[in-house]
Amino acid sequence: MRRILVTGGAGFIGSNLVRLLLAERDDVEVVNLDLLTYAGNLANLRDVGPSRYTFIHGDVCDADVVRRALVGVDAVMHLAAETHVDRSIQGGAPFVRTNVLGTHTMLATALEVGVRRFLHCSTDEVYGELPWQDPDAPGPRERFTEETPMDPRSPYSASKAGSDHFALAFHRTHGMDVVVTRCSNNYGPFQFPEKLIPLCVTNALEDRPLPVYGDGLNVRDWIHVEDHCRGMIAALEGGTAGRIYNFGGDAERTNLQVVRRILSALEKGEDRIQFVRDRPGHDRRYAVDSARARAELGWAPLVTFEQGLDETVAWYDKNREWWRAVRA
Ligand SMILES: NC(=O)c1ccc[n+]([C@@H]2O[C@H](COP(=O)([O-])OP(=O)(O)OC[C@H]3O[C@@H](n4cnc5c(N)ncnc54)[C@H](O)[C@@H]3O)[C@@H](O)[C@H]2O)c1
Repeated sequence: MRRILVTGGAGFIGSNLVRLLLAERDDVEVVNLDLLTYAGNLANLRDVGPSRYTFIHGDVCDADVVRRALVGVDAVMHLAAETHVDRSIQGGAPFVRTNVLGTHTMLATALEVGVRRFLHCSTDEVYGELPWQDPDAPGPRERFTEETPMDPRSPYSASKAGSDHFALAFHRTHGMDVVVTRCSNNYGPFQFPEKLIPLCVTNALEDRPLPVYGDGLNVRDWIHVEDHCRGMIAALEGGTAGRIYNFGGDAERTNLQVVRRILSALEKGEDRIQFVRDRPGHDRRYAVDSARARAELGWAPLVTFEQGLDETVAWYDKNREWWRAVRA
């Protein structure tokens, strides 16, 4: 049996990862270390039974807790983080604490106890922003590769960039077996309804306005959460130590296109769209080149954006108790 410690396993991506690991790997047992902040919720894992799964309530910044959680662990998948850009603009301190100090504590403790492999989950937002391009325009497109220099522009992405530097430095300085993954914007079930897609779906379901920043033309490269989780598992099992792997969904859409698609899936009128003052420093466009992950890990996204979004809208429609409870 391989014992994998997932941090942040009660959050959106973490809970999808825990479920997928247990479903697709018979030889894996999962320990989930999560502080259960506003974004973490044990209801996200209510269908996961106790065989091969243990939950530990604790803080990744607390080395004693981390040391106990690491007993018998072969590999770490480190996802715990503060993740909402708008919250980081209101106050960056929790982001520095959890994302930088927490990642350092995880790395240092994993090194001390001799964990075999450490996967650090990061984001394409560390690369900064790309010049705007119409998602529907033909022709060549500029994208982030793993060689693109980091140029974070929000306190959230700055804290993630800091954590990436520590992860890569532990490989270079200590020879630790570290792999870093950088993924584009995720969507899917169990995403906290403060992020664009679940916020707009839940508002539409309650016949409330759908807020769209600025002119709505900011472009994101959307990926279904299960495709991201498959990518992290592939990187854990087949990635090269010290290497970075990008994951993108090859689905660039403007925010306005996303919101219109949600409204049409729910058969609601576009008069619900409410343009609001733009986020300060709002990155104009992200797009990810996943060629390395495709070539070296044999990974490719499986879920098309339209299919995944329709399924996600249907999931929020069916699981109203879940989002009303987590939002309360
Ligand atoms: N959501 C995206 O689109 C996206 C894209 C690329 C990368 N990522 C990265 O994926 C990871 C997970 O993102 P998410 O969207 O699932 O986040 P989330 O906000 O839904 O969940 C974060 C989880 O971390 C836990 N946590 C927070 N602080 C903690 C601490 N000090 N100790 C232990 N647990 C703590 C929370 O309780 C929660 O369960 C993050 O590292 C994020 O940077 C996210």
